[in-house]
Order: sequence, then C-alpha cells, then structure tokens
Amino acid sequence: MPPQHILLLALFLYLSFSFAKPLEQPFPVTRPEDVYGPPPPPSLWPVRSNKSCTAYSKSQPNPLAKQYFDRRITGTINGTLAVLPIPLSLARSIIPSKYTILTSAIQAELPDFPLDKYPCLFQASYYHDISSVLNPGSVPQTAVPDFSSASIEFPFVDLLGDNSTSFRWVPEILKTITASKIPAITEAREFGTDIHDAVFEPNCEAYHREPDSDYTTTFGRSVDLRVVGHMSADVYSRFKPLGSGPYHMRFWKNVTNQPSSANGRRCDEMVRLFNTSVSTGHYQPVEVNGQVNARLKTFKGEKVWEDVWGIRTDPSFVGNNPLDCESLRGYGART
Ligand SMILES: *[C@@H]1O[C@H](CO)[C@@H](O)[C@H](O)[C@H]1NC(C)=O
Ligand SMILES: *[C@@H]1O[C@H](CO)[C@@H](O)[C@H](O)[C@H]1NC(C)=O
Ligand SMILES: *[C@@H]1O[C@H](CO)[C@@H](O)[C@H](O)[C@H]1NC(C)=O
Ligand SMILES: *[C@@H]1O[C@H](CO)[C@@H](O)[C@H](O)[C@H]1NC(C)=O
Ligand SMILES: *[C@@H]1O[C@H](CO)[C@@H](O)[C@H](O)[C@H]1NC(C)=O
Repeated sequence: MPPQHILLLALFLYLSFSFAKPLEQPFPVTRPEDVYGPPPPPSLWPVRSNKSCTAYSKSQPNPLAKQYFDRRITGTINGTLAVLPIPLSLARSIIPSKYTILTSAIQAELPDFPLDKYPCLFQASYYHDISSVLNPGSVPQTAVPDFSSASIEFPFVDLLGDNSTSFRWVPEILKTITASKIPAITEAREFGTDIHDAVFEPNCEAYHREPDSDYTTTFGRSVDLRVVGHMSADVYSRFKPLGSGPYHMRFWKNVTNQPSSANGRRCDEMVRLFNTSVSTGHYQPVEVNGQVNARLKTFKGEKVWEDVWGIRTDPSFVGNNPLDCESLRGYGART
C-alpha cells in the first residue's frame, strides 16, 4: 500500500473509534444541578459555608464531652454511610499497586458480597460538638467548630504489607471551606489525603429532608479557586429508609474503625463508638437505600451509583490522631 493510503486508513480508523462514544447511563438519575442549580461564584463560597453552624445544628450534643480528661478530642459524626460496589479490577487499578487488597477480610466481613466486586465506603458526615477537656473537672472546650465532609474511601487495604491489618485508603475528601483553615484539619494533609475546600447543602446539618418525601439529601461541592468558576469535585447523595439492607452493624463498625491514610506513613485514628446516647434508642441507626453521584479525581470524572444500601447514624468518636501507621499494626495502639 502506498504511504498516503496507509495514512488515510489510519485517519479513517481514528475517526471511526473517536466517534464510538461509550453509552450514557441507562437509568434516570437526579443530577445535583437539577436540584441546586449552577454553582455560585467562588467569591460567595466562604459566606455560604457558615462558621457558626454549632448554633444552628439540630445534632445532639456530644455525650463524651465530659468523659475524656486527657485532652483527647471527642465529638459526634452524624451522617450517611453507604457501600458503593465497584469491580474489584477497578479498585485494583485505583489503589496504588504497592498496597494489597485484603480480600479475605472483605469475605470475613461480607460473606455474601460478590467476589469480583469491591465495597467502596461512602461517607457524608457532619462533625458536631468537637471538644476536649483540658484539665480534669474543667468545662469541655470547643476544639474545632462544626464542619461537613464527604468522601469515597477504600477499606480493607494493607498499608503495612503485613497481609493482615485493614486500613482505609482515603485519597481525597471534601471538607467545609472554613474548616480547612483550622490546624486540627490541616493536620489531615499529613495523611497524604487531597482535601478539597467545599461548601455543603445543607450547610449546618448532616442531611436534609426533601419536601413531601422520605428522601434526605446532602451535597458538597468544591471549586478550584485557582481556576475561577471551575468545579474541582462534587459529591451528591439522596437516600431514604427502605426496609433492611444487606449489611450488618458489625460491618459498619468495622469499616469506620479502620484507621485511614493516603500515604501509609501517617494515619488518622478516630475510634467510633456506636453505643452512646446519640446512636442508640431513639437515635439508633436507620437503614437507607439511594443514590450517590460523584465527580472526583479518584474516578477520573463523574460516577453514579443507584440502588445502593447504607445507614444514617450518629456515632461518637474519640480521636487519637495523627499517628504513625506502623504503630497501628494489628491495631496495637487502640483506645
Ligand atoms: C448559617 O446557617 C444557618 C442554617 O443553615 C442559616 O439559617 C443562617 O442564615 C446562615 N448564616 C449565614 C450568615 O449564612
Ligand atoms: C442527625 O442529623 C439529623 C439532620 O440534621 C437530625 O435530624 C438528627 O436528629 C441528628 N441525629 C442526632 C443523634 O443528633
Ligand atoms: C494472606 O492472608 C490470607 C488469609 O489469611 C492467606 O490466604 C494468604 O495466603 C496470605 N498471603 C500471603 C502472601 O501470605
Ligand atoms: C475488620 O475486619 C477484619 C476482618 O475480619 C479484621 O481483621 C479487622 O481487625 C477488623 N477491623 C476493625 C477495626 O474492626
Ligand atoms: C461502648 O463500646 C466500646 C467499644 O466498642 C466499649 O469499649 C465500651 O465499653 C462500650 N460502652 C458501653 C457503655 O457499653
């Protein structure tokens, strides 16, 4: 074949493939922009993510505030947790190859979960009444003002290479923009996690109820302030109670209590307790079903999950961070 023909053939093949786009999502989903409209100009964001949430929040007070006299931080994490199943091969391609996925631990915690799937952990949370007691007998002090956060995380990851200790690998997280100026939060950058300054709807609550519906929603969006008007990430969730789902409390306790990190060197350990007054009795966890839409670097663009299961709950926590991940081998240093 003469070289011109080879060039033409190459051009033809390139054009035919470049027009063969992947199929769009086949099911109708609610898009965050249908509900919340286009993003506001970045200049309005610090105002909208309001600093005084503690005064507006309907979350119950932190029941541990008076119990820890050793300056440790305690608080509550009210929000929605869900499992977002993805192909195990996709998880493998996202999680750095030096870290093994502890598939036998996944099977131990989720015996009915498909072997070719991986359970990402979705969290949309409102951190409330975060305080510490500086001296025994003294009044608990607010350590960090209330803030919201949203993330899609990778539990059961072997960060230490010991083929046994399960960690959550957390590559990126959206956090209330004002929170990112607080040392206790900027410390989180030590874990290697990419923190997106974000605003949330609702801005001072764990979730809000849609009018005339059982659904509650949360929406966090982040803008890259260096590129004015450009979104850098957003996470939207919409859930309602719908009977009982496939995951047990034991599983939720397990994944939320795996220490987290992105770099495997420094780790965030927040021990969550599900047995205090804010997550039992009237406030016991509620199983929910719904959808999550996310535009994150981790997934290289938008991803939508429908018909996923989770819980609404408000565990209390005791924070021990930041720690060397190594000290958590076999969870040696647990509270
Ligand atoms: C702060 O948030 C509350 C609750 O969402 C709202 O009522 C109040 O108007 C907000 N304040 C500002 C200054 O945005
Ligand atoms: C969690 O937040 C929701 C929404 O703001 C609120 O209705 C609920 O009472 C809170 N739960 C607790 C235990 O504070
Ligand atoms: C890791 O642990 C699992 C389950 O305990 C075991 O089946 C597997 O052989 C171990 N892998 C290595 C490389 O030791
Ligand atoms: C989670 O479950 C795995 C597998 O059963 C176990 O090895 C690990 O210690 C558990 N982690 C927590 C924090 O409960
Ligand atoms: C609550 O749970 C924690 C850890 O799971 C346990 O150490 C503590 O004793 C429990 N407290 C009560 C009052 O049951």
